[in-house]
Amino acid sequence: MKFKSIGSFTPKNPYFLAPMEEVNDIAFRLLCQKAGAGLVYTGMIHPQSHQEFNFDDKPALQLFCTTTKGIKEFIEKNDDNVVMWDFNLGCPAKTARKHGFGSFLHHDLESIEEIIKTIRESTKKPVTIKIRKSSKALKIIKMAEKYCDAVCIHPRTQIQGYGGVPDVDFAKKVKDSVNIPVIYSGNIDENNAKEFLETFDFVMIARNAIGNPNIFAKLTNNDVKITFNDYLDLAKKYNLPFRQIKFQAMNFTKGMDNAKELRLGIFKAKRVSEIREIFNQ
Ligand SMILES: Cc1cc2nc3c(=O)[nH]c(=O)nc-3n(C[C@H](O)[C@H](O)[C@H](O)COP(=O)(O)O)c2cc1C
Repeated sequence: MKFKSIGSFTPKNPYFLAPMEEVNDIAFRLLCQKAGAGLVYTGMIHPQSHQEFNFDDKPALQLFCTTTKGIKEFIEKNDDNVVMWDFNLGCPAKTARKHGFGSFLHHDLESIEEIIKTIRESTKKPVTIKIRKSSKALKIIKMAEKYCDAVCIHPRTQIQGYGGVPDVDFAKKVKDSVNIPVIYSGNIDENNAKEFLETFDFVMIARNAIGNPNIFAKLTNNDVKITFNDYLDLAKKYNLPFRQIKFQAMNFTKGMDNAKELRLGIFKAKRVSEIREIFNQ
């Protein structure tokens, strides 16, 4: 069965900006939305984080934790500003290993269920999980189906990280084994997205969207063309730190003819006006 909604949320199209720590700041998410993304995710956020966030874009907010501590309060505080809640069961990073987060939690079905149940009980908004392939993944997904409105599968193992071939057959197994929508993540680009939508309900784009919000304009036949000046305007509005602006400037050089030269200039830049000049040359 194919789905067009995730619980009470009906995205305007099935092309989502995948959760990406560091990359998905508020300015970048807003630009992906403007380009046409049907849904944008935040990166992982710990419910006990004291950081101040801006959710003007009404994103899907991704939680990242190993216990239920602070979840209810965090959801209460932010529920009006998001369209849905996601729980990360995929992170393969060293810090996740250290604290037992993400893909390192797969062995602990009991904690996972408690966390998902707590998220479910704290909000009327849709709840989802994002999970990697593992020997426990199908069992976790079957359990999560009781509480969740959709599941996102990134069918690479923890050891694969972001390299190697995603196991699309495993993702198809997930699609066949649940009665909730399945979002697919892994090597989606502007050429293969439509083909994946023949099998899956929604697709997510991560690396191919970095520095390239226009991928959503191409996928949705939207006439809009986002430039780095648009990013700079929003970065100013939201008072984003200079190091973040520099990081995104590097990302936006991807695919440009003179990328190497531009990056050297960005590397040396000391203020935003210099970066703006580099892109306006
Ligand atoms: C820089 C970067 C940061 C990421 N951060 C997150 C994250 O915070 N939460 C998450 O669930 N996945 C994260 N991912 C994984 C992506 O959401 C996605 O599942 C994965 O990159 C595969 O998609 P792709 O082949 O389109 O890149 C991250 C990936 C990258 C490249």
